[in-house]
Amino acid sequence: MVHKIVVHKLVYQYFFVYICTQIKEATMEKAFVYGMSVEGENFTDRVKETKRLKMDFENGINVILVSPRRIGKSSIVRKVMKEITHPKIKTVFMDIYDCKSEYDFYNRFASEVLKQTATKSEQVIENIKKFLVRLTPKIAFTPEPMSEYSFSLGITPQNYKPEEILQLPELIGKAQDVHIVVCIDEFQQVGEMPDSLTIQKRLRGVWQHQRNVSYCLFGSKKHLMTKLFQHRKMPFFQFGEMMYLDKIPTTDWVTFICSRFESQGKQISEDLAQRICETVEGNSSYVQQLAWNVLAETEKTTTEEDFNRGVDALLAQCSALFEEQVKGLTGYQMNFLRALNDGVTSDFGSKAILENYNLGSKSNVSRIKTALQDKEMIDFDNDKVYIEDPVFKIWFKRNVK
Ligand SMILES: Nc1ncnc2c1ncn2[C@@H]1O[C@H](COP(=O)(O)OP(=O)(O)OP(=O)(O)O)[C@@H](O)[C@H]1O
Ligand SMILES: [Mg+2]
Repeated sequence: MVHKIVVHKLVYQYFFVYICTQIKEATMEKAFVYGMSVEGENFTDRVKETKRLKMDFENGINVILVSPRRIGKSSIVRKVMKEITHPKIKTVFMDIYDCKSEYDFYNRFASEVLKQTATKSEQVIENIKKFLVRLTPKIAFTPEPMSEYSFSLGITPQNYKPEEILQLPELIGKAQDVHIVVCIDEFQQVGEMPDSLTIQKRLRGVWQHQRNVSYCLFGSKKHLMTKLFQHRKMPFFQFGEMMYLDKIPTTDWVTFICSRFESQGKQISEDLAQRICETVEGNSSYVQQLAWNVLAETEKTTTEEDFNRGVDALLAQCSALFEEQVKGLTGYQMNFLRALNDGVTSDFGSKAILENYNLGSKSNVSRIKTALQDKEMIDFDNDKVYIEDPVFKIWFKRNVK
């Protein structure tokens, strides 16, 4: 009997500790978040852009969102999607980073549109029967509470023409009497598919006539996105409003960083918060990553040493990736980066610079530039060239002779 009571007590105690841990984990807010889209307390500023994007969504305007890497495109789109409460507007989000071919894309497109415009799984099945009669999809019910089912539609060139799939949101929008905003992340993938130009023509050809659907297209590779949307001869030229997402202003970051430190019972001066931001040139993801490293070094109030250790930690976290990137470069490309590192930003074709940095010929310089831009290592601001990744820049200075 006594034995039984002790066992019961132990079970209760264990259960109590387990529940407390779960509650703590669920409520413990992260001070800084990076490497994923952010929301709530971890999302700052962007008031103007949020308002504008929301207005575009509500008014059925196509938008193309462009910015340098990891500035906050995915986060702002998800935020605006959550803010849309109008009963006649539905939003669909899809990430096509892993779609390698045209039909990969159509399968992702159709399944996300079906899932996210339905309120229940039965409605998905109903809509498949109604709009995609020739399919016999495989539906699997999953035990995870977040997605109760997954399915593969099996769309192929044999059973459906591209145009029929691309019309799906328009048909659903009409049937439900709603406007659908389709947001496609990593859209530059379309430009990488075999026979990409034909695919782009198809998409544009169908999408531009739709009444019940608008699109928000964005992606992480800025120069590929620019190629798709800003060249006159490309099918998506002037498809919608180009929106450039700028860096979050330093003053907003300072307020954000100081308050996040406070939420953890620590303190950082405005001056050091500003230096966090400046060190990584306001790159949103790196601001959060460096702030997190500095916070981890801080006992109570951040000192100069804590800040420096935070920067060292950030470099250590990135160094394996940078080493890998540098390993893949040719001697000429490295020389070009050395020139940038010394502060040269233009006139690479001049005799002095060609000789000084051993860059070969003038035409070699343009090949180097294209190759480094394709690798997303450099970018252009008017005629000036710069190293894209601010942390790579620091790492290069410290480690490469
Ligand atoms: N409004 C914001 N407030 C605070 N931090 C932000 C904000 N937007 C982005 N970040 C930070 O930047 C990181 C990257 O954000 P996000 O993934 O939205 O950028 P992205 O531009 O889509 O990146 P990629 O170019 O890789 O697709 C986030 O994990 C977060 O640390
Ligand atoms: Mg993104």
